[in-house]
Amino acid sequence: MTGKRGNPWRRVPSGVAIAPSLLAADFAHLDRQIDTVLAGGADLLHVDVMDGHFVPNLTLGPPVVRSLRAYTDALLDVHLMVTDPATYIERFADAGADSITFHIEATPDPMALVARLHELGKGAGITLKPNTPATALEAVLPAVDVVLVMTVEPGYGGQTFMDNQLAKIAEIRRRLAPHQRLAVDGGITLATIGSCAQAGADVFIAGTSIFRASDPAAAIGELRRAAEGGGE
Ligand code: DX5
Ligand code: ZN
Repeated sequence: MTGKRGNPWRRVPSGVAIAPSLLAADFAHLDRQIDTVLAGGADLLHVDVMDGHFVPNLTLGPPVVRSLRAYTDALLDVHLMVTDPATYIERFADAGADSITFHIEATPDPMALVARLHELGKGAGITLKPNTPATALEAVLPAVDVVLVMTVEPGYGGQTFMDNQLAKIAEIRRRLAPHQRLAVDGGITLATIGSCAQAGADVFIAGTSIFRASDPAAAIGELRRAAEGGGE
């Protein structure tokens, strides 16, 4: 158990943070893949959990998070794409997740889940699908540590960035306090990261454009520079 160490997002430096999504990694060599991206300057690791119900795809469960926890001190940010997040929060928290992000579409009581995560000493994140408006987050927004705007339909890596989400990113940024992080997830590449940064995102989750690059460590640096340049 990690115990209560305060908001784990404080460990992530302010400004641009790059979060490799392990979904695109080679699962037979996760240890080496993690070493590579951390050496390349990754600020945290994004772990996608899919249950075959909330989204059609299946990925991984608490045992994998437990193994990742034993291997690395890096911040583990678990993105729950599951029908019933309340059932799974405790298990992923116990497995060693530092922060857990769940979907607003998947729970009638997001405030209860945020409160439980904070009781457990974990970061709390809320996310929304592309067709869900920012207003759906209104009540829970002040309570979370991170908001994740999905810039593809959740379920698969390697999809094309939806630029119609940029206005939503900007709208949410206007409603957040400075310490609250704003993440984007899906189709983040050198071509799209700058516009997300300009819209107000500061955590950039990227799978394909990092792990499928010929040099994943270099790709992290390039993404960071593109975000800091705001698309120049
Ligand atoms: C999609 C996941 C993403 C995915 C992003 O449902 O939430 O984290 O790994 O993959 P890329 O960067 O390939 O779009
Ligand atoms: Zn994700």
